[in-house]
Amino acid sequence: MNRYIINGGKPLHGEVVIGGAKNAALGIIAGAILTDEPVTIENLPDVSDINVLLDAIRGIGATVERIDAHKAVICGKTINSVVVNSEVIQKIRASYYLLGALVGKKGKAQVAMPGGCEIGARPIDQHLKGLRALGVKCDENDAENCIYASVTNLHGSGIFLDVASVGATINIMLAAVLAKGTTTIENAAKEPHIVDVANFLNSMGARIKGAGTDVIRIFGVESLKGTEYTVIPDQIEAGTFMCAVAAAKGDVTLKNVIPRHLEAISSKLEEIGVTVTESEDGTEVRVVSDVNARLGASTVRTRVYPGFPTDMQPQITVVLMLGDGDSTVYETIFENRFRYVDELVKMGAEIKVKNNETAKIHGVEAVHGTHIDVPDLRAGAALTIAALAADGQTVMDWIDYIERGYEDFDGKLRGIGADIVKETVNDIEEA
Ligand code: UD1
Repeated sequence: MNRYIINGGKPLHGEVVIGGAKNAALGIIAGAILTDEPVTIENLPDVSDINVLLDAIRGIGATVERIDAHKAVICGKTINSVVVNSEVIQKIRASYYLLGALVGKKGKAQVAMPGGCEIGARPIDQHLKGLRALGVKCDENDAENCIYASVTNLHGSGIFLDVASVGATINIMLAAVLAKGTTTIENAAKEPHIVDVANFLNSMGARIKGAGTDVIRIFGVESLKGTEYTVIPDQIEAGTFMCAVAAAKGDVTLKNVIPRHLEAISSKLEEIGVTVTESEDGTEVRVVSDVNARLGASTVRTRVYPGFPTDMQPQITVVLMLGDGDSTVYETIFENRFRYVDELVKMGAEIKVKNNETAKIHGVEAVHGTHIDVPDLRAGAALTIAALAADGQTVMDWIDYIERGYEDFDGKLRGIGADIVKETVNDIEEA
């Protein structure tokens, strides 16, 4: 287990370079195996979820050459197994993308049921509904905790998603690009990473239209070719640093961002008194939070894109926890996403959660450091922000969750003046 030790109360100053979008890169890595030609992916984030997926495709025979921490060449020609079933892949959510990709490439797949953060029930019925509409037979095997999928005639179809699921939209795209005929996904998810995965697949010769809107059309092609592709910047990593500056105060410029993807977050922060300025070339945002002024209160509802992202809900709650007045945060996407609130209350926050859906926040002037546990990835990022803004020292256990999705989080924070160190608990015990 790893832990952070954070001495809070230091404003943040300087520059942070934002990495590639984890959730886009996961779909892109799965898509890369659809061709027998080499695919070069740049701006890959060096985080554990990505490294687990790369290991999983190595495990089925793909070659993965890691050129450097952020660049890999993947070749699916050597794939010799359709069985992706290890304890490791079960830990990540995106294991399900190998279902769509392997069905498209090999007509068969056996993939471990997806894991990921325990933020709700997270069913995959919409993934399976979509694959079945394309002619895929899908059987869930509870005893082996995996899904068997096979298809003899992968064909286009019309699919209406009951919920605009990010994962289901990408999974269906992965399977449909090599299907015969046209697939239409209605009520498709519109998140930036959907568009990025579609752009990537199109660069391989796929014909996907409408990504980023409610209706995506996929015109099946015979085969795909190799490509070189750069993953978009991570909207959630950027938003997390914006909230860190808002709460801990200071003046930080975020480089390598797409400000359009950050609008829901920027406008909420501006509403409560943070200054957010976009650079002229549209690749940077500067975030200024006045150390002498208290931020305001607000109401936030998580929504599918372009609404306020559920993956930013814990971070904005931490900012509002220190605001002047009463705020309300409604979580509308996942059922169990307020588990971190108990930890904030230990730090002196005044937050009450109702029905796991609504956080009623009475803003306090200050919180104090204490010993806390990280319950999941985004909550971990939010608790780090709380610790940066707190008076005194916070010891945060189980930060391994954070490393699933944030590259060198502590190093980037140190780079802008945070007093944060990472320790491995075994080392401490042995010392
Ligand atoms: C992805 C992201 C996650 C983000 C979420 C919402 C990845 C690896 N993870 O997760 O970080 O929080 O999008 O932006 O990209 N649902 C169903 N049936 C399904 C699929 C989903 O009912 O078959 C429901 C879910 O329970 C949830 C909602 O739809 O309530 C949205 O889930 P979804 O967009 O699928 O999230 P993930 O793809 O799991």
